[in-house]
Amino acid sequence: PKIYAITPTYTRPSQKAELTRLSHIFMLLSNLHWVIIEDANTTTPVVRNLLRQAGLSERSTHLNIKTPVGYKLKNKDPNWLKPRGVEQRNLALNWIRTNVNPEQRSVIFFMDDDNSYSVELFVEMMKIEPGRVGVWPVGLVGGLMVEKPILNEDNTHVIGFNAAWRPERPFPIDMAAFAISTDLLFKYPQAQFAYEVERGYQESEILRHITTREKLQPLANNCRDVLVWHTRTEKTNLVSEVKLNKEGKRSDEGMEV
Ligand code: UGA
Ligand code: MN
Repeated sequence: PKIYAITPTYTRPSQKAELTRLSHIFMLLSNLHWVIIEDANTTTPVVRNLLRQAGLSERSTHLNIKTPVGYKLKNKDPNWLKPRGVEQRNLALNWIRTNVNPEQRSVIFFMDDDNSYSVELFVEMMKIEPGRVGVWPVGLVGGLMVEKPILNEDNTHVIGFNAAWRPERPFPIDMAAFAISTDLLFKYPQAQFAYEVERGYQESEILRHITTREKLQPLANNCRDVLVWHTRTEKTNLVSEVKLNKEGKRSDEGMEV
């Protein structure tokens, strides 16, 4: 089956590095389609050039929609203050509901631009059955080395989660911990993300419409393998660049970094 990977992204110094890393996964797997949505009023050359240079023009959909000002993180805000990617992921869900053939088997996955993904994770996603949501462990998240589903003795069903952070959530898992059989999006057209939910509840918000814990499909060697890590890139230090700029110069004159 085809996999639609949905990536919200925004302009910052490390953006091209992050997206370059992700683009190599697409170059290794021919059945991935990248829906990349810029948090901006227009699409930008950095993203457009990257898609073209990676040979992904045909296997990607490049959209843009800006997060409304009231919901956007300010530069000094702690990162958890507001949800990220809501507007962009919802636009992608609309695009999928409009452009993907409901009869064709496919899977959708919310792929943040800064995590670290193994190619093997996508091989696992191809095993997701129609009508189901696949789940697996995520490394380095929620204050733990690994957050993972807990399975029954036969390893057939998810009976709980090991989450330490807000374990009372209906689905106490990260965005990188699941992928959805696309038929569920057509069956439950109201399923999407929302601003009016508590911190950490975006994953539960979409999943509560389309599945239950009992129906989740455990993957990645009965949830024993870690194939994705919730890595985060530190904010780029540009003190010297700022000084240069004040003198009317820049280190990246005529270059795309
Ligand atoms: C965690 C989860 O892994 C995210 O999937 C979830 O959206 C987020 O929390 C949340 O609670 O909103 P975290 O590392 O804290 O992730 O979030 P970021 O990586 O900063 O952002 C998630 C995605 O949204 C990224 O692909 C990022 O490029 C994008 N983003 C971020 C925007 O499009 N606009 C922004 O202003 C900030
Ligand atoms: Mn992140």
